[in-house]
Amino acid sequence: MSIQSIGIVGAGQMGNGIAHVCSLAGYDVVMTDISQESLDAAMALIGRNLDRQVSREKVSQADRDAALDRITTTLTLTDLGRCDLIIEAATERETVKQAIFEDLLPHLKPNTILTSNTSSISITRLASRTDRPEKFMGFHFMNPVPVMQLVELIRGIATDEPTFKACQEVVDRLGKTAATAEDFPAFIVNRILMPMINEAVYTLYEGVGNVKSIDESLKLGANHPMGPLELADFIGLDTCLAIMNVLHEGLADTKYRPCPLLTKYVEAGWLGRKTQRGFYDYRGETPVPTR
Ligand code: CAA
Repeated sequence: MSIQSIGIVGAGQMGNGIAHVCSLAGYDVVMTDISQESLDAAMALIGRNLDRQVSREKVSQADRDAALDRITTTLTLTDLGRCDLIIEAATERETVKQAIFEDLLPHLKPNTILTSNTSSISITRLASRTDRPEKFMGFHFMNPVPVMQLVELIRGIATDEPTFKACQEVVDRLGKTAATAEDFPAFIVNRILMPMINEAVYTLYEGVGNVKSIDESLKLGANHPMGPLELADFIGLDTCLAIMNVLHEGLADTKYRPCPLLTKYVEAGWLGRKTQRGFYDYRGETPVPTR
């Protein structure tokens, strides 16, 4: 099963990064979204991120131009029907993902592999609602996609070996490393990372530290590149809360209960960098802690 073309559903934070690395690795990419503005913004961002790699001499100007040429954008989901591999990177809501697969399925070639970049939803359950559970997998990138080395590959209960191998080959060609995770809530990275972030929010909630002292502690005391609250803002507080809820409900253990302060920030619409406010306020020159 040789993959030449990759269809990406969603041009947001993850989708544009996935398009970037796939086109740079030589795949033909078709990226779709429901809004033309999102597609235009994604192409502009990919251009800027590629420019950054050119200026740091990680990518040549010719490879940058060729990568951009290999990406086509479309508002028509069914244009992805000709692709060999689909990576769905739409909103982290199961009903949205299911509706996308339902619309797309009649247009796919029989051999097309269908994957989701979901960070926490059951792969087996998503796969069971398609016509090809054996050709369905979790293909989970980390943010920022062009920088982070890891991809989690998650087999559903029905995923067959050729599908797994084909996805592993794609990860290799992207120059990234795959970690294989079983299909249990939040897989590996988020199973470990999110409770740490949630605990940082509890530490803030209980007044043990403030935003600055908590982030500095983990940066300087544990050599993390970002503090947990800064990282939560980077990922999106709504995403963090959604993943904590999946852990809490899926594993039925109170140790995963989301911190009420995390819920409060999400209720306020303070979702982190994407809304310019979260644990930090990003509206000025430099981020200012909100607590
Ligand atoms: N595209 C291309 N290159 C990028 C980039 C992007 N979007 N963002 C950063 N870079 C590059 C920079 O050009 C720079 O390259 P060089 O090493 O060649 O100089 C390098 O990445 C480092 O960037 P900066 O110097 O600008 O900034 P930094 O040193 O502060 O690093 C960071 C930024 C890489 C984001 C770093 O802070 C970091 O690793 N943070 C933690 C990120 C993390 O944990 N991500 C996982 C989140 S969990 C997840 O994604 C799973 C989920 O489902 C929620």
